[in-house]
Amino acid sequence: MSSSLTAGYFIGLMTGTSLDAVDTVLLQINNDGQTEFLDGITPEIPDTLRQSIQSISHGITDRIDDICRLDICLVNLYADCVGRLLSRNGLQAGKIMAIGSHGQTVRHCPDCNPPYTLQLGNGERLAGQIGITCVSDFRQRDMLYGGQGAPLAPLFHHHLFFKKGINRIVINLGGIANISILHQNGDIEGLDTGPANILMDQWIRQQQQQRYDKDAHWARSGQLHPTLLARLLDEPWLQQKPPKSTGPELFNLKWLGKFIDDTNIAPKDIQRTLCEYSAVTIADAIHSYAPDSEEAIICGGGAYNPLLIERLRELSPAPIFISDHYGISPDWIEAGMFAWLAWRTLNGMPGNIPAVTGADRETILGAIHSISADAVSSSTQAK
Ligand SMILES: Nc1ncnc2c1ncn2[C@@H]1O[C@H](COP(=O)(O)OP(=O)(O)OP(=O)(O)O)[C@@H](O)[C@H]1O
Ligand SMILES: [Mg+2]
Repeated sequence: MSSSLTAGYFIGLMTGTSLDAVDTVLLQINNDGQTEFLDGITPEIPDTLRQSIQSISHGITDRIDDICRLDICLVNLYADCVGRLLSRNGLQAGKIMAIGSHGQTVRHCPDCNPPYTLQLGNGERLAGQIGITCVSDFRQRDMLYGGQGAPLAPLFHHHLFFKKGINRIVINLGGIANISILHQNGDIEGLDTGPANILMDQWIRQQQQQRYDKDAHWARSGQLHPTLLARLLDEPWLQQKPPKSTGPELFNLKWLGKFIDDTNIAPKDIQRTLCEYSAVTIADAIHSYAPDSEEAIICGGGAYNPLLIERLRELSPAPIFISDHYGISPDWIEAGMFAWLAWRTLNGMPGNIPAVTGADRETILGAIHSISADAVSSSTQAK
């Protein structure tokens, strides 16, 4: 490859549907796109900010002023996380080639007419504030060309984990679960399979005022409710063929209410059943779309849910390995993807896979917000 490519340190920033933390990772990417994960931090999203993301994501407020304020609060939070990562690695902003910032999704409706998606955490402002070129809005162009704008992970998962001669899958257990199918001949497929943590998180938050079911203690204290599980499995979205993506717009407590409001199932039994629902829908997708997979690699926060992993080990046709096994923390992969996609964007390379997203063409993803000398000096002065 040409030596004129942009290479060096890149930072990836990701806040997903779980609203747990800002995954902030530092990578070194060379001219061939080879990546080395150097460091990562996952600072928690403060409660007040989480509440305001929820009220905008769930449509409780549609006030434009609130949305604008949230946009700026997210930029401030992201800038703070980047600053912390830089200082603990003894790096100046000027050493970083670019940040790939996913932003916070507050709407994702690929099947609406027209399809739309919105991530807050303005890339232009972030670039100026921290003095680093920022690539953002990775999903827009794919959707313009008829794609779902998701999942974007399969190309990066292929980059990290493809091994000739072995059929591998990568399962990201975020709020939503998505799988990347890495065929031994180099072909790539991918799809969202439904919930990973999102329903379990929302249910325990409502019932127990906890952010998530740590180590699945609450779920383990309950009993699986087979009738409820069967009703949840009737959800028509599960039968749709790929390309497909989903989010909290579908899988939320209102949706769950349709199945439990006329019952008196114990809350802990519902939690146990929601865990099973995630495991079964993921395993069903593997059986349907990747039945000959030989290794399944898990990333995302669900890797720390021992009951979910235990059930996946029992239901999946392929043996399960956590990404640590391959030397990469499960917390770093999705954020690392946006650093790597930023590298591709700066080097004029496409970032989507039409067969995965349904777009009618490959396209370079994201808007590049370059920094000017003014922005660098004023951001330095502001600190
Ligand atoms: N010790 C644990 N026990 C049970 N669940 C855990 C544990 N640690 C993390 N989790 C789960 O992982 C979730 C966070 O996962 P992650 O950060 O991958 O999701 P996300 O931010 O929604 O990302 P994505 O964009 O991939 O959806 C938490 O909300 C929680 O449900
Ligand atoms: Mg997260």
